[in-house]
This record gives sequence, structure tokens and C-alpha cells, in this order.
Amino acid sequence: MQRRGFVAWTSAALAAGFSLELRQARALARGVAEEPTKDGSIFGGPPVLQSPASDAITVFQGVRGLSTGWVEYGTTASLGERADTMRHGLLPLNGLVQRVRLTGLKPDTTYHYRVGVAPIDFRGAYKITRGPDQFSPVHSFRTLSDEGRRASFLVINDTHENMETLRGLSAQIAAARRRHADASLPSGGPLFWNGDIFDDVRNDQQIAANVLTPPIAVDAPGAELGYASQAPMCFVSGNHDVRGIHARSLDMFVDTPGGLRYAIIRHGPIAFVVLDTGEDKPDAHGVYAGLGAFEAYRAQQGTWLDTALRDPRVQRAACRIVIQHIPMFGGGSCEGARQHWAKRLADAKVTAVISGHTHHYAFSPAGPEQPFAQLVGGGPAPEAATLIEGVVDGTTLTLTVRGLDGAVRGVHEVPVAG
Ligand SMILES: [Fe+2]
Repeated sequence: MQRRGFVAWTSAALAAGFSLELRQARALARGVAEEPTKDGSIFGGPPVLQSPASDAITVFQGVRGLSTGWVEYGTTASLGERADTMRHGLLPLNGLVQRVRLTGLKPDTTYHYRVGVAPIDFRGAYKITRGPDQFSPVHSFRTLSDEGRRASFLVINDTHENMETLRGLSAQIAAARRRHADASLPSGGPLFWNGDIFDDVRNDQQIAANVLTPPIAVDAPGAELGYASQAPMCFVSGNHDVRGIHARSLDMFVDTPGGLRYAIIRHGPIAFVVLDTGEDKPDAHGVYAGLGAFEAYRAQQGTWLDTALRDPRVQRAACRIVIQHIPMFGGGSCEGARQHWAKRLADAKVTAVISGHTHHYAFSPAGPEQPFAQLVGGGPAPEAATLIEGVVDGTTLTLTVRGLDGAVRGVHEVPVAG
């Protein structure tokens, strides 16, 4: 392709808002590093918040080249505090991601923040040139709280690197956050990415492109802020997220409470119990070549539940919701999860489990065969994809399932187990 033609085509694509898709496609296809844009910006996209708590949150920033980074933050837009990531005396140096954990925050409090990044030209140990500091816009988020009777959250699942679906979801996520704000629901409700972000995990560029800079619907109000710069994304591991030669390197781009993929996350009246169902075939299956120990891992999480479910953040919650990728009940469900977790969760008065994996939206209420309700989200194809909106208001959990066109595909009201 002639250079002139390439430039013209690229400019047209940028104008149409396809820049992220192009970059992602390139990263997915060739695993190449990003380069700064023509205006010299080294930012890859909006920040992504992860691993929220009442007193902490992790800020991720996708970058387009070798750089160092930090976060400036505070309870007013004038910021005032600075957080760095230091390890062994070294500050960060990375070409794909900057990440900073903010700690010592106050619960139920709005914080403003911006990411600072400085490009680094590293020619040798004593030949390093630091470029001018660059800053993201100032964003804000609210820390989690154990208080309140109302709260909202969002769930997506099984996006499987489908860029059209990711772009559509960015619009629906922004619209849902607006609806929740209009309904005066507390801000900061997490978005659970409930497994199978990937088909399989192949390289760092692919992970960054999916988790840090997924496509954005440029014509959707609010979508330009990104999917998790104002409220956190909580990663829930799916069977495809533990597949691929690079699956053991996700943690550079993903943070979870305590670095574990099973956790309690409390948001207002809701205690979320996040569980990791692991692979979907027995460990002894030939395709894994003996590289998995998911049966022991599920048993380990069952033992952990004995303690976790006695945590006051769970016991005192008005509503308990389980988030796990592979369903607990019905076709395509996880036998190990039922065996090790289901009775413990039922005894702890769980209201519902939210899953994915089957690629078919389905709801089943509690009944003789299953002790709590189960909602399964849709699949990776745009026509099958779903955004699940959950709202707890007093004694009712309302789960609204929408398609990528925003149309409501189902509303399920579940009495909170109490
Ligand atoms: Fe799956």
C-alpha cells in the first residue's frame, strides 16, 4: 500500500472513530507495540479502575510506548495527593500499561484523579531521556461502602474479543450508568466482566487491547469516558481466560482483591461473592497436558467459603449475590461448583447467582431443584450479547437484561433472601 493511500485511509478511519479497533486489530494480529499518535499523546485510552474496596482502588492506564506513570488524586478537583508504584526502589517502566494502587482512601467518598505519564527513550543504562509529562483528563470515582439500602451493578460476559460487541457494550454501559444516576442510585456500582474476555490468552498486546483499550462507541454519550474510568471493573475468570500460552501473565493487566480470583466485594446492601469456576473439562482431559489443577482449586474455594461467608460484610449484607462464569445449575453447569459451593451458599442465604458461558441468556427462579435464582447472560455475537443491570432497592433485586440495541429482553424480580 502506498504511504499516501495509507495515511488517507487511516485519517478517514480515525475520523470515523475506528482508531481503537485498528490498533486492537493490529495488536491482535501481530502482537506489535503501540506508537505515539501524531499529536504525540502516549495515552492508549481512558483509565480502567479495578479491584475496588472501601479504602482502595487500582488505576490502570494503557500506554502506546515505553513510559513511566503515576496518579494524582484527591477529594477535590484540585487533587493534591500523588501515588507511585515503587518496587525494589524502582519506579515503573513499561510500554503497554501503567498501574497504581491508591490506598488509605475514605469509604463512600468521591475522589478525583488524573494519570500522569512521561515517555522514556531508553538507549542504555546511562543514556535515558525523559519526555515531557502528559496527563489524562481529571476523572472521578466513589469508593465502596458497607452502608445503604440501594445499589446498582452491571454484568457483561463472554465477549470473546468480539470488537463489534465490545463497542456496542460500551454504549450500553454508559447508558446504564446514566439511568442509575438519574434514579439517584449511589455511584460507583461495579461492572463485573464475568469471564471469557478472551478466546485464549496469547500475548501482552492482546491482553492490553482487550482489557485496557477495548473499542468505544464514539457516538454514544458518555462512552468516550471508557467503560471503567468512573466506576470499577471487577474481573471474573472464565475458562477461556485460563487458556493459551500467556494465560499465566494476565495479572499485569488485571487486579482483584488480594490478587485472588475469588473474593468478597461489598457495595452498599450487596455482598458479592466472586468465584472462579476454572476450566470446563476435567483436569485429566488430554487437551490440557496435565497443566491444570482446577478440581483442587474449586475444593479450595469451598473451604474458603466457610470463612468468607461468616465475614460481617457478608452476614450483615441485605443481599448476597454470587458471580461465577460457569453456571451453578442446568445445562453446561459446573459440577465441581455445585459439589463444593452450592450448599454452603444456600445456607448463607444467597439471593441469586449470575453466570455466562452457555452464550444463551436464561433465567431460572429458585425451586425444589435449585436453592437460589440463576441468571445466565448471552454470548459474544452482537445479536446474542447482553448487558445485565442489577438494582437492589430494599427487599427486591431487579435484574434487567438488555441487548446491544438497548432493548429490554427481560426483567426478573427476585425477593432478597435477607
Ligand atoms: Fe465460558
